[in-house]
Amino acid sequence: MELTDVAEQSSIGRNKPLIVANWKMNMTLQEARAFFGQLKDASSEHCDVVCCPPYPLLYPLRELMQQAGIALGAQNIHEKSKGAHTGEVHGELLFEIGCSHVIIGHSERRAAGETDEQIAAKVQQAIAHSLIPIVCVGETQLQREMGLTKEIIRTQVESALAGVSDGHDKFIIAYEPVWAIGTGKTALPSDAQNIHRDIRQLLTEKKGSGFANEVPILYGGSVSASNIKELCAREDIDGALVGGASLQVNSFEAILTALK
Ligand code: PGA
Repeated sequence: MELTDVAEQSSIGRNKPLIVANWKMNMTLQEARAFFGQLKDASSEHCDVVCCPPYPLLYPLRELMQQAGIALGAQNIHEKSKGAHTGEVHGELLFEIGCSHVIIGHSERRAAGETDEQIAAKVQQAIAHSLIPIVCVGETQLQREMGLTKEIIRTQVESALAGVSDGHDKFIIAYEPVWAIGTGKTALPSDAQNIHRDIRQLLTEKKGSGFANEVPILYGGSVSASNIKELCAREDIDGALVGGASLQVNSFEAILTALK
């Protein structure tokens, strides 16, 4: 399969679940090569797969991922197009080396100071370079306890949408309650569904139902083979952003298999 085919096929849509592996700051080149050496063909009629390795692994892994039917995603993008920004990477380069997707506004980056304004600018940069933004939103434990979940998510989604021009439709949201990330605690599928439905209503309000009905809304936070099927069975849960369970071939493959 050509790289462009993988990107095209997995690019967008809600007809099958989308599984996005977020490797965060894990894996060496050697480990990553071994991972794809062991992973059976991930392209299937049951789900689409995107993998987001650390920046230096994107280019060396692209062929292996292409062979496995997996689209290439970055974990971040800079909010400006080019220039004196030491240590940053611009969208044109991500696209040139074969990325089709990019994670934006992950809670670990928000916690390190990334603002809603930067996130909107990053969304704009991604779209300008034909990358599909996967925008992460979600409340912290404290915000949840204070009953602020809806408000926080509304603000985060609205500000990310500020980077999306009218008529553009390639956009993905990942609802990731911060208290569920890496903790082994998953939101109840019914609670997650309620939030996903609210997000879709907000998308309809802001961009119309044509846009809202096309946008995959992924769930993230301690997703594993034991909960993926139940989550994806809900009407507005269109797949998952997977951290820890995407780092071992066995646990990742088990998630893909569970969707069959
Ligand atoms: P987790 O991470 O699956 O390890 O909870 C999810 C994420 O941070 O995207």
